[in-house]
Amino acid sequence: MNPLLEVDGLVVDYGRARALDGADLRVAAGQTVGVVGESGSGKSTLGAAIGRLLPRQARVEAGEVRVAGERVLALRPAELRRLRRSRLGFVFQDPIASLDPTMRVGRQLRLVLGRTGRDDVAAQLARVGLDADRVASAYPHQLSGGMAQRVAIALAMAASPELLVADEPTASLDAQVREKVLDVVFALAAGAGTSIVWLSHDLPAVARRCDRVAVMYGGRVVESGPAAAVLGAPAHPYTAALAASAPAAAPPGVRLRPVPGRPPVLTGPSPGCAFEPRCPFAEERCAVERPAPVRVGEQDALCHRAADLTGELEVVA
Ligand SMILES: Nc1ncnc2c1ncn2[C@@H]1O[C@H](COP(=O)(O)OP(=O)(O)OP(=O)(O)O)[C@@H](O)[C@H]1O
Ligand code: SF4
Ligand SMILES: [Mg+2]
Repeated sequence: MNPLLEVDGLVVDYGRARALDGADLRVAAGQTVGVVGESGSGKSTLGAAIGRLLPRQARVEAGEVRVAGERVLALRPAELRRLRRSRLGFVFQDPIASLDPTMRVGRQLRLVLGRTGRDDVAAQLARVGLDADRVASAYPHQLSGGMAQRVAIALAMAASPELLVADEPTASLDAQVREKVLDVVFALAAGAGTSIVWLSHDLPAVARRCDRVAVMYGGRVVESGPAAAVLGAPAHPYTAALAASAPAAAPPGVRLRPVPGRPPVLTGPSPGCAFEPRCPFAEERCAVERPAPVRVGEQDALCHRAADLTGELEVVA
């Protein structure tokens, strides 16, 4: 069976800055995938590209995005709207940004539901733990951050999308609300059979909630596979450094401590492995040859040495 989402060799530039440098990602129906990586690694760009929601100044230079086999980047505007409406949902870091400030919450929900003819507004709000009597007649700015994010989630999930792209949906919320909102997202998705691509800094939370993990570095997915395998026995030196900097046993909400050294700033294709300047295992070819994917155990890793480093990359908790 074809995966629900296929991203192949995606290259995206913002002017001279290269945000994605050949990113690959596969998500099967019903899977929850956490996409992790340092700031600037390309997570948001990848997430936006899935729905062709990239900012105006972004240019797709190469690659392909398919959702249920449809070539997202080639669709005509009407087809794109249909695809977004019928198969995709999005939640972003700032909930207010996904809501219409001029429209009461109930009306916004009715607009989404009208097309699908499903449950009524009160039921949708109840699913995200909100009381319709209080919330339906409110404008977005009258809600707290946590309530507004729940409304954004209700809107994104109202039509039971096949794929929800969640870009740090809880980063602006305090720790207690954050866990509750995540509970809501993952429970709704599990109930509806919705796949999740969750873009996040929060490695321990991803480890707890996601089936699979994709690790981004320098605009590429450098390692992907089942969460326990990727985080427990990394195949890529960057994953090992990342996992060591934010052990899975850390309390909820801990953000990644930076890996020593600086992330790359690309202005074109990386000539070799983008992690080479920071990698303790680098060899000569690493600076000049782009690594191709290697299968190691249950993981795929973009590292010349992935096979001979098997078992060497310890996660220091
Ligand atoms: N609108 C934009 N204009 C110019 N450059 C951008 C824009 N958005 C992102 N970039 C650049 O593209 C690269 C990837 O950014 P992106 O936002 O996708 O990373 P991210 O992993 O989501 O980071 P963060 O964890 O901080 O959200 C970065 O170098 C960033 O500076
Ligand atoms: S390809 Fe080379 S530099 Fe890159 S992670 Fe592997 S060993 Fe390190
Ligand atoms: Mg981002």
